[in-house]
Amino acid sequence: MYSDSRKRGTYFIQTFGCQMNERDSETIAGMLEDDGYVKAEERDGSDVIIINTCSVRENADNRFFGQLGVIKKIKEKNPDSIVAVCGCMMQQKRVTDIIKDKYSWVDIIFGTMNIDEFPSLLRERRELGQHEYAVADSIDHITEGLPSRRKFKFKSFVNIMNGCNNFCTYCIVPYTRGREKSRPPEAIIAEIKRLADDGVKEITLLGQNVNSYGKADGFDSDFADLLYRIEDIDGIERVRFMTSHPKDCSDDLIKTFGRLDKLCPHIHLPVQSGSSRLLKKMNRRYTKEKYLELLAKLRDVRSDIAVTTDIIVGFPGETDEDFEETMDLVQKARFDSAFTFLYSKREGTPAAEYEDQVPDELKHARFNRLVDAINAISAEKNAAYEGRVEKILIEGRSARGGEGTCSGRTGTFKLVNFKCDESRAGQMADVKITDAGTFSLFGELV
Ligand code: SAH
Ligand code: SF4
Ligand code: F3S
Repeated sequence: MYSDSRKRGTYFIQTFGCQMNERDSETIAGMLEDDGYVKAEERDGSDVIIINTCSVRENADNRFFGQLGVIKKIKEKNPDSIVAVCGCMMQQKRVTDIIKDKYSWVDIIFGTMNIDEFPSLLRERRELGQHEYAVADSIDHITEGLPSRRKFKFKSFVNIMNGCNNFCTYCIVPYTRGREKSRPPEAIIAEIKRLADDGVKEITLLGQNVNSYGKADGFDSDFADLLYRIEDIDGIERVRFMTSHPKDCSDDLIKTFGRLDKLCPHIHLPVQSGSSRLLKKMNRRYTKEKYLELLAKLRDVRSDIAVTTDIIVGFPGETDEDFEETMDLVQKARFDSAFTFLYSKREGTPAAEYEDQVPDELKHARFNRLVDAINAISAEKNAAYEGRVEKILIEGRSARGGEGTCSGRTGTFKLVNFKCDESRAGQMADVKITDAGTFSLFGELV
């Protein structure tokens, strides 16, 4: 450890993509700070610039190469600065070949499974002055005990597993994150206890498919068992998790929503499509009916549970009938909200080779219809909150309301804005909902 930060310099991390990447960036920041680096307020002028990339859709790729162009100029002004790129895009040889060939100002490339090596790559880069590359295709264990610099004091992500074994035919993630690998339950519990001691009240367990936690590693604990064990940790008041795959959403897991007080009544359960025919082509391994059955069971166990989802529009071969099935599912499922995506062709995935790609114009028209239907339901669902008193974890100043306004989430993950002193961030409070919009609620402290 270096006590004098001036010995090392400043760092800035730009993070794209999902919560897994956000969590990885916290680890990268933690390692850098242990080595004496200090977080910079802005990218320009910082000594180490890191871009943690996402590859899930094509526009993410394009944005990244755009950023590298901007960084070239920054580096011209500050030639001693070091540029490192990491994350899911780096797991594709096509991408790293382009960077090595055309973006010589990038000093370090490291993969999603080489995060723990970053401090030594950085040291070598500074000492030897050469490019440093480390991209592995697989790991046999998850490195424990890495430091972390959390974004929030009172809530935290906890990674429980890496990778994905599902190979949905549209998705790049199994190729960028490798096979499923779970952390031992003891290590997870120990981390959460440490977080609780540190004042954390809410944790979100992370994995691409948390419902298959432990399966690939042959652990005795499955995901439901893990939730029971976490319930007993003093200090933790709220537990969330994401993402769940419908094919592995077991009855045991569903029951936990009725039994565990700390488990928040919200599940993010990506459906992707309402057409059983397309779900099969996507390799999702459930049908529309099976999905609706799961929702009925969940609502049976916990009537107030909020359900959110992801939907892809324009998967290859999507017909009008397939799309109408999705519209029908949306009406029946009544999601609290949904992330909707235009299908994006990812090189190396099976669906990219399918010949019946849907024309852009049709994709967009369907997308707009779907979003309108989802928003109308979100607005109705939110309106039902008016007049209710909700428990909120105050997160700090609201992005919308400005000074003297805070925001926080209900157990069901609804964003609420209300007048409140920012010094109360991190506290739980009762808030009466006075007004509801499509995407957020407004209320007052009671
Ligand atoms: N593991 C999670 C999802 C991770 S990716 C799960 O299986 O539910 C997040 C979302 O991105 C997916 O749910 C999907 O809706 C979307 N997505 C993934 N690949 C995509 C692609 N090629 N085009 C458009 N959307 C995609
Ligand atoms: Fe991608 Fe499917 Fe794995 Fe989710 S479950 S990360 S959509 S392959
Ligand atoms: Fe993107 Fe990788 Fe997450 S591709 S969505 S950052 S796992």
